[in-house]
Amino acid sequence: MCGIIAAASTRNVGKLLVQGLHKMEYRGYDSAGIALHQENSIAHLRSVGKVQLLEEKMIEEKPKSKLGIAHTRWATHGEPSEANAHPHKSKESVYIVHNGIIENYVELKESLIAKGYDFTSQTDSELIAHLLDFFINKGNSMIEAMYLAKEKLDGAYAIAAIDLKDNSNLVVARNKSPLLIGLGTDEMFAASDPLAIAQLTNDFIFLEDGDVASISAEEYKIYDSSKAEVTRDVTHIDISSQATSKGDFRHFMEKEIYEQPEAVSSTIDGRIGGEDVLDNIFGLGSSDLFSKVERIQIVACGTSLHAGRVAANWFSSIAELPCQIDYASEYRYRNPHVDKNSLLITISQSGETADTLAALNYAREKDYLASLTICNVPTSSLARESDFSLFTNAGPEIGVASTKAFTTQLAGLMLLALSLAKSRNLNPLLRGRIIKALRLLPETIAEALLCKEKMIEIAPSIANKDNALFLGRGIFYPIAKEGALKLKEISYIHAEAYPAGELKHGPLALIDENMPVIALAPESEIAEKLISNLEEVKARGGTLYVFADPSVNMDVKAGHLIHMPKCDFFMTPIVYNIPLQILSYEVALLRGTDIDQPRNLAKSVTVE
Ligand code: G6P
Repeated sequence: MCGIIAAASTRNVGKLLVQGLHKMEYRGYDSAGIALHQENSIAHLRSVGKVQLLEEKMIEEKPKSKLGIAHTRWATHGEPSEANAHPHKSKESVYIVHNGIIENYVELKESLIAKGYDFTSQTDSELIAHLLDFFINKGNSMIEAMYLAKEKLDGAYAIAAIDLKDNSNLVVARNKSPLLIGLGTDEMFAASDPLAIAQLTNDFIFLEDGDVASISAEEYKIYDSSKAEVTRDVTHIDISSQATSKGDFRHFMEKEIYEQPEAVSSTIDGRIGGEDVLDNIFGLGSSDLFSKVERIQIVACGTSLHAGRVAANWFSSIAELPCQIDYASEYRYRNPHVDKNSLLITISQSGETADTLAALNYAREKDYLASLTICNVPTSSLARESDFSLFTNAGPEIGVASTKAFTTQLAGLMLLALSLAKSRNLNPLLRGRIIKALRLLPETIAEALLCKEKMIEIAPSIANKDNALFLGRGIFYPIAKEGALKLKEISYIHAEAYPAGELKHGPLALIDENMPVIALAPESEIAEKLISNLEEVKARGGTLYVFADPSVNMDVKAGHLIHMPKCDFFMTPIVYNIPLQILSYEVALLRGTDIDQPRNLAKSVTVE
């Protein structure tokens, strides 16, 4: 989704701003632009499509500048076009970039038109430039104008602005959309994503909602919502360039799939000891708090929601706790009833998903015992706003389709199920058995990754289809859902998941030789039942791709039976997901799609 980078320096900033845009490409975007202060004018370049095209314009025009703002846009209001791309300007003087959505843009736009401002885009963002220009022309400084503009704006925003009349300062503001300042030597930066400036500095200041800041090459000043100057902590983060480069892999997604054994080790390391989970791994006081929990509510989006659906089974079977799970975008609109001693759990790779954050904010008004997040980004809004947390330590995930984040979320959620059971003095033997299996998990995942050759062999028979059906039962239904999501996200093949028992209540009508049916058949009490469901598919000509325990044997006719590594049943959802990721990747490769940045999608969805 949209990305902001801005710089004030004693050297030329054009190139480093474009490099920063490249670093944010993974977030998903459809156009890019830059505004560079050049003393008497502001160079303004925009292009639709890849950042590369903007870079080519820059090479042609060679603008020199020590102060600038740049943006990648993911269209919300108005199609992807040059006119809608950021930066937006007012009278060749004030230039802004904006992430988020201005909810009252229609009325603000009308009032600015009435004041004589011309609009050249269909966006909700352009009015911010005009508003700032309006207040600056009334004699206000940029900072004052930003505060006055903020009073008018409803919605979520991160804004960076420059003004022709000031060649050394840029002004930024944050409300419910991530924004940070990066501290360099003789230069300062602002960005919506630390990865954008990770090659320039390791020192970051994460702004808080309501903050406004002015930034020059030499200094920065931060003011809070009451306009008082404030000091915010400097966070040192060393994001290695290895973590953000593809290495020898063709795509980030491929790299991230094969990083999973190591990523899962990082989630588990230092959190288990002997035959149990360690105390307070979710934060000081968490073990005590867990002994009071009587009910769980999970909210999340996309792949993270699927991790939650798997975990809901574990909370019930290991910690004997009832669990309700909601799409974060739906949760606050169903007027949820909160039972006493309920724990709210949010799950998020980025920690910046607008709906998940909004659900957390809504839940804060309710009577929850506490909020807890399972998250991959320790500096994220969700991490900062939750009472307790566990970071998955997966390292940056760049591919839009989530892989290692999902697997590590599952490992983190298993630690949570074990911690809840421990605090409630439940199932010590089972806990010991699961801890043993968790220790073996990185190895088991490495074994599952060896199915690559088989996936390459079967990918062509799926790549030439328009649809696919994924089947699972029980805890494997969410894994089937995640498999279907992965396939549709990156290969654009329409894919659906069903609990296998539901097959004859509708989807069986879809089965013919053009419908690949991908089924998950681990050894479990329901495996036999699932196999009968698969017989129904076979009898109707559907091609079966069955991922099964080595003990499962069935005649799949022209289809494929893929035996998975043996492992403890509690680890099977994690392990069976691995070949589904590889299969989607290999199918997408054959279809030639943009695997790391699938069309229309964004990595971090920062608008509701
Ligand atoms: C987007 C991403 C998905 C992700 C979802 C939730 O849709 O493309 O991969 O699962 O957002 O993101 P989160 O960062 O909250 O896990």
